[in-house]
Amino acid sequence: MSVEQALTIADLKEQARRRVPKMFFEYADSGAWTEGTYRANEEDFHKIKLRQRVLVDMTNRSLASEMIGENVSMPVAIAPTGFTGMQHADGEMLAAQAAEEFGVPFTLSTMSICSIEDVRSVTSKPFWFQLYVMQDRDFVLNLIDRAKAAGCSALVLTLDLQILGQRHKDLRNGLSAPPRFTPKHLWQMATRPFWCLDMLGTKRRTFGNIVGHAKGVGDLSSLSSWTSEQFDPQLSWKDIEWIRERWGGKLILKGILDEEDARMSLGSGADAIIVSNHGGRQLDGAASSISMLPRIVDAVGDQMEVHLDGGIRSGQDVLKALCYGAKGTYIGRPFLYGLGAGGKAGVRRTLEIIRKELDVTMALCGERDVKNLSRNNLLKDV
Ligand code: GLV
Repeated sequence: MSVEQALTIADLKEQARRRVPKMFFEYADSGAWTEGTYRANEEDFHKIKLRQRVLVDMTNRSLASEMIGENVSMPVAIAPTGFTGMQHADGEMLAAQAAEEFGVPFTLSTMSICSIEDVRSVTSKPFWFQLYVMQDRDFVLNLIDRAKAAGCSALVLTLDLQILGQRHKDLRNGLSAPPRFTPKHLWQMATRPFWCLDMLGTKRRTFGNIVGHAKGVGDLSSLSSWTSEQFDPQLSWKDIEWIRERWGGKLILKGILDEEDARMSLGSGADAIIVSNHGGRQLDGAASSISMLPRIVDAVGDQMEVHLDGGIRSGQDVLKALCYGAKGTYIGRPFLYGLGAGGKAGVRRTLEIIRKELDVTMALCGERDVKNLSRNNLLKDV
């Protein structure tokens, strides 16, 4: 089956499972501890029911919108994800190109395999950069400056991962980039020959933004050593000020899941917040993103843009988030599955599937403009 034959994100997920070595596929397909919040993110979308409307003119529909003042062909950005260049060789570069061609924002993670400069070298429009704050302030300042020099148009500051939530699969799999050459890892790779061939053709196999730039880490290839040895567990609201000043551009705060934190973010000078529980990868037991969205929009939505990530697996999910007042949404796993399944063409297919589902759902709800969606299109609250 080719990526063009995939009809759903679930189809792409199954294709990726067959193409990507287990440790990297499962890195994407995992949540913290019991994975309860990971599952709730998806399940709670299914509880929301749409209002079916008929005999409404469905011609001239538009999905175009804006996120933080940038025109987007649909309000769906590519989320920052770690290890993306391990789902497919040069993954961040390919996904950024697919997003640019599609007219949606691409967000590069600090924990990416391809560096800021790599992604800049293959794109012509600004992308967004996600920042993790490390204890080595010089390194962080330098990272911000590198994102500025690359022309990034937004800084997405992640607030919910100063210590790493435990994902059992990663520990059991011995996740690292580059992978280790133990019999178990060699077997995982040997059974994925196309992945290996692509990987042999690139030199990008470890954390491109940080290896060689940050100091004081024991195991350079492990996410858990980077976080435990480098990330700053004292990060506070005060730090947002110096980050914002150094950056000087659009700032998005990612990881707000509580109304009180949402209200506190109003004074931070940020342009938007992302309602997020890190895809259920951090605080297991936290509420789903979509269930928290309505109250956060009610608390701050008239004063700043509220975006959402977590659990989106279809254009219908995007529509439901927009109905609850999100001005933008992010897809993480859906694009990783597309990427793992078929590189750039796979990411394009992910975006096409979501766009089609969003468009048809909007029409059957009796709406023609994505900007007009509201709670009025929903049958009842989550
Ligand atoms: C962080 O980048 C993660 O693995 O969730």
